Amino acid sequence: MSVLILGATSPIARQLAARYAEAGWPVYVAARDGEEAARIAADLRVRFDVEATSGVFDARDFDHHPAFIEGVEAALGPISVAVLAFGAMGEQEASQEDFEAARAVIEVNYAGAVSISEALAARLSQRPGALLVGLTSVAGDRGRQSNYIYGSAKGAFALYLQGLRNRLFRQGVHVMTVKLGFVDTRMTFGMETALPIADPVEVSRALYEAANRRVDTLYYPPLWRGVMSIIRSIPEAAFKRLSL
Ligand SMILES: NC(=O)c1ccc[n+]([C@@H]2O[C@H](COP(=O)([O-])OP(=O)(O)OC[C@H]3O[C@@H](n4cnc5c(N)ncnc54)[C@H](OP(=O)(O)O)[C@@H]3O)[C@@H](O)[C@H]2O)c1
Repeated sequence: MSVLILGATSPIARQLAARYAEAGWPVYVAARDGEEAARIAADLRVRFDVEATSGVFDARDFDHHPAFIEGVEAALGPISVAVLAFGAMGEQEASQEDFEAARAVIEVNYAGAVSISEALAARLSQRPGALLVGLTSVAGDRGRQSNYIYGSAKGAFALYLQGLRNRLFRQGVHVMTVKLGFVDTRMTFGMETALPIADPVEVSRALYEAANRRVDTLYYPPLWRGVMSIIRSIPEAAFKRLSL
C-alpha cells in the first residue's frame, strides 16, 4: 500500500509527502520536473528511512495517465492514498485575451484532474479504505471577474469530486475535497491580500489530520468556510456590481 503525491513540487505537497513518510508510508512523488521529484524522494528516504520513489507527471498529458498509474503501482505497489496537489492559476487577463492561456488553466485544474482521477478511481474502487484527496480553491465557490477562468476550473473540479465521492462511497473509498484560501506558495507570491496567508506546514498538518478523519470537505484556513458562505449569499443583482 502506498501514497501517491501529484504536483510534488508544491510546498503543500512536499510537506504532506513528509507527513506520510514520517508515518512510515511508502511514497511516490510525481511532478513535471522529474529531477526535482527525484530530489524530493531522496530527501524523504534520508529523513524518514522509508521507500520513496519519483516520476514525471504532467496533468495535461491525458493519454499517458493510465500508463502512469500502472507505472507507479509497478514501482511501489497498490496505491491506497492519492493526493492531487497540482494546479495553475494562470493570469485572468491573458486568459481573456488568448484562449490558449485559458485552455492551459482549464486543462491543468479540471480536465487533467478528471483524467487522472478516473484512472485512479478504476483501481481505488477495488480497495476499501482507499482515499483520494483533491486540492481545489475557494475561488471555485463563486465566479468573480478577477479570476473566473481559474475559479470555474477549480469549481468544476470540486463538483466532480463531490460526484466521485458519491460514486465511490459504496466501495468504501473516500474522496476528500480541500478548498484552500490563501497559502504562502509561488501561487500567491507578491499578492496583496486582505485576509491572512496560511503557512504550507500548517496547511499540510490540517490536511493530513482531516484526511485521516475522512472529512468530506475541508476549508483551510477554516475561516474561509464562513467567508465563502457570506460571499455565496450575496444576491446576484448586487454581486455583479461589485469589483471582486
Ligand atoms: N497557494 C494558494 O493560495 C492556493 C489557494 C487555493 C488553492 N491552491 C491550490 O493548491 C494546490 C497547490 O498549489 P500551491 O499553492 O502549492 O502552488 P505551487 O507552488 O504553484 O504548486 C503548484 C503545483 O502544480 C504543479 N503543476 C502546474 N502545472 C502542472 C501540470 N501541467 N502538470 C502537473 N503539475 C503541474 C506545479 O508544478 P511545477 O513545479 O512543474 O510548476 C506545482 O507542483 C494547487 O492545486 C492550487 O491550485 C493554492
